Amino acid sequence: MSTLLVVHHTPSPHCQAMFEAVLRGATDPEIEGVDVVRRAALSVSASDFLAADGYVLGSPANLGSISGALKHAFDGSYYQILDSTRGRPFGLYLHGNEGVEGAERAIDSITTGLGWTKAAEYVAISNKPTAQDLEACWELGATVAASLMG
Ligand SMILES: Cc1cc2nc3c(=O)[nH]c(=O)nc-3n(C[C@H](O)[C@H](O)[C@H](O)COP(=O)(O)O)c2cc1C
Repeated sequence: MSTLLVVHHTPSPHCQAMFEAVLRGATDPEIEGVDVVRRAALSVSASDFLAADGYVLGSPANLGSISGALKHAFDGSYYQILDSTRGRPFGLYLHGNEGVEGAERAIDSITTGLGWTKAAEYVAISNKPTAQDLEACWELGATVAASLMG
């Protein structure tokens, strides 16, 4: 059994809708042998990262970057997981308008440092997520989870 860890900061109903769509995709019945664990970014630990085989990260764009909560998740775990999680697949979803590029750059920088592998295109959504937006979130969760199937 593999484990997909979803690390998310979810401060609003729009972000919640995206989070739930990612989970629906990741837990699709056609994806077998993958346990999906979710952790709020403010509560995730280095042990959670180490125990997982792949990751989906979710955040709003705040002040032109990722949320402080998601940054805190890496500030607190980076060196504990460095070299032990190298090569693992990850995906990213963002909610925001201005500053999404800065958030993507922050995640590029963190995941390049960790040596993680981008398993799907980033999903960035603004305003109220449309059905198509939520489909993209579903696809993101399903793609990263499927990459962990034995
Ligand atoms: C401190 C703070 C900073 C923010 N900075 C940005 C920003 O730089 N760009 C942006 O598009 N949205 C920004 N926002 C808005 C959040 O991205 C937004 O609340 C989040 O995506 C959820 O959207 P919703 O409230 O429409 O559901 C900020 C929100 C907060 C609380």
